[in-house]
Amino acid sequence: MSDSTVRRSPFEQATRVLAAFACAHLATASLASHPDEQELQVPEPAERCESCHALTPDEPALVGPTLWQVVGRPVASVPGFEYSAALKALGGTWTRARLDQFLTAPQSFAPGTKMDLGGVRKASDRELVLDFLETLKPAPVGSTGTKNREALVADSGVDAPVDAAQAP
Ligand code: HEC
Repeated sequence: MSDSTVRRSPFEQATRVLAAFACAHLATASLASHPDEQELQVPEPAERCESCHALTPDEPALVGPTLWQVVGRPVASVPGFEYSAALKALGGTWTRARLDQFLTAPQSFAPGTKMDLGGVRKASDRELVLDFLETLKPAPVGSTGTKNREALVADSGVDAPVDAAQAP
């Protein structure tokens, strides 16, 4: 038996153990977690947005305006929300590219903004946040995304007739 065989074998074993663990872990996670939480799937870099922003159409504005349908929405346009002069002065709409710039460094993109966030510095984190923001819109009828929207509404605590709507 060569040296290399001796060394490879424990490695292979470890890989198998890890793979088995990962599978077991995933299976447990999907069984244990609440279905709504699974559907919402807020990526980790977007979790802090939730402390200031509603993510559904039905929640009232928190510290910041709702992020429901923010992609493609005119800047500073949520009725009743008191935006800073800085944000109101921006004009235009929130495209993905502009959101990317804003989230990188809110204070540089809109000096004087009320959004007290240092910025999402990592490009890969911003990608996750932007992908997530793009899901905050009504799903096309019949698509699997419909469930996601219902989960979002259900998650807001509003008495949405999710079950009634699905009943025959
Ligand atoms: C500490 C609270 C806070 C956190 C955390 C926060 N925001 Fe904000 N956000 C605000 C406030 C306040 C405003 C309004 C800014 C203004 O008027 O200058 C705002 C505005 C915005 C706007 C502009 C919306 C519009 O209607 O024009 C976007 C987009 C946004 N935030 C995205 C995010 C995202 C994405 C995250 C997470 C990465 C996040 N925010 C985290 C407080 C926060």
